[in-house]
Amino acid sequence: MKARAGAHDIIPFGKPPSVVLVVTISLILITVISIYPHFEYHRQPDYLEFAISIRDPPPSSSTPASISRWAPDHSAPYYTNETCMAIHEHQNCMKYGRPDSGFMKWRWKPFGCELPLFDPTRFLELARGKSMAFVGDSLARNQVQSLICLLSRVEYPKDAYTPDERFVKRWNYVTYNFTLATFTSPHLVKTNQSDPDGPAHSGIFNLYLDEIDDHWLAHIDEFDYLIISGGHWFFGSLIFYEKQQRVGCHFCMLENVPYISNFEGFRKALRTVFSAINSRKNYRGITYLRTLSPSHFEGGLWNDGGDCVRKKPFSSNETTLGGEETELYMIQKEEFQKAEAEGRKRGLMYRLLDTTQALLLRMDGHPNKYGHPPNEKWFNDCVHWCLPGPVDAWSDFLLETMKTDSRR
Ligand SMILES: *[C@@H]1O[C@H](CO)[C@@H](O)[C@H](O)[C@H]1NC(C)=O
Ligand SMILES: *[C@@H]1O[C@H](CO)[C@@H](O)[C@H](O)[C@H]1NC(C)=O
Ligand SMILES: *[C@@H]1O[C@H](CO)[C@@H](O)[C@H](O)[C@H]1NC(C)=O
Ligand SMILES: *[C@@H]1O[C@H](CO)[C@@H](O)[C@H](O)[C@H]1NC(C)=O
Repeated sequence: MKARAGAHDIIPFGKPPSVVLVVTISLILITVISIYPHFEYHRQPDYLEFAISIRDPPPSSSTPASISRWAPDHSAPYYTNETCMAIHEHQNCMKYGRPDSGFMKWRWKPFGCELPLFDPTRFLELARGKSMAFVGDSLARNQVQSLICLLSRVEYPKDAYTPDERFVKRWNYVTYNFTLATFTSPHLVKTNQSDPDGPAHSGIFNLYLDEIDDHWLAHIDEFDYLIISGGHWFFGSLIFYEKQQRVGCHFCMLENVPYISNFEGFRKALRTVFSAINSRKNYRGITYLRTLSPSHFEGGLWNDGGDCVRKKPFSSNETTLGGEETELYMIQKEEFQKAEAEGRKRGLMYRLLDTTQALLLRMDGHPNKYGHPPNEKWFNDCVHWCLPGPVDAWSDFLLETMKTDSRR
């Protein structure tokens, strides 16, 4: 795997050319972790349900006329891998030989209303003089790169200096005085790897459930928009701490350590996140939660031949969210509501980007085996999203809420 020439200045985690070797190695590591955050799955039979339930038909039969759906969009895509240099290697599906392009030509049509297509000029006008930060895992990065590509029809950003690109990457839109940033924090709370020398993919993480990750929180005061996401990394092996004491673990296989479910860990982590935001005196931004991005392994687990080969979106009567993902999604919505109520008391605004149902229908939008060169042995990626692709719709959702808020 080789970083594309010129790509180091736009891809988060990139580095100056003098350390290309380090970049290559760290990219592989980060990609391995970030594509396969739930490496320990196979040890747990309950994960099977996650893979299988994808195709279960939903219990109620909705009438086709009254459901949200993906509608054909013959004008799409609005950028390509040739016009936008921000696409991460592993989401550049056309480069790696994906033969079909129909997956790019859909737009989200919510029932009962229109979701306008992304208008880059309108976005940049609303964002003029402002700043926006994305916090999360490699799917947050996927989202930022989609946004940069959608905006590239109007302006391409300049890289801003950041001391450690493993954690933060910044760009400036000079004409609009708009700053965009991404903070890498897959667990959102404070974490370190319990065995830092172990192979990245088998890493067990220590999660300090009641301590926030200051790599991002310490910087939020300067941002007008803060877009939080995450979830997948809570499927991994985790050792939970509270008040600096080990309280339990999930898939850690340590003796005499009580089991705490990843769901409980996730809920506590989100509470810590929102309470840290709400008690941040000088923060005035609008906080968004972008809900869980569904993955779609079919015919097996991610490490056991599972793939995602569909070429068209599902209709909503054809699929449901897996049980474990549903759980994380419900926790997101519940904790979001509490955070919003708390935030309101001190005048902070919250917005939910509830994109899970829409993306659930897009099994066709993942790289699958087209996220890497054909001669490289790699697992199928049914977690991230090809660009251009379905996550471009996340920016449609985002811009609509920005328009609404600008009229307030
Ligand atoms: C789902 O709805 C579509 C119409 O939107 C219909 O053609 C199809 O037969 C339905 N599939 C199932 C499994 O009910
Ligand atoms: C873009 O995709 C095409 C195939 O559609 C591929 O030949 C080309 O190398 C890719 N370009 C870049 C810059 O990734
Ligand atoms: C750019 O925006 C910042 C606020 O984010 C503001 O303080 C600054 O004055 C603006 N600069 C110009 C040149 O408009
Ligand atoms: C992780 O962080 C905690 C708290 O700062 C520290 O006590 C511990 O030694 C760290 N563990 C590793 C493996 O670095």
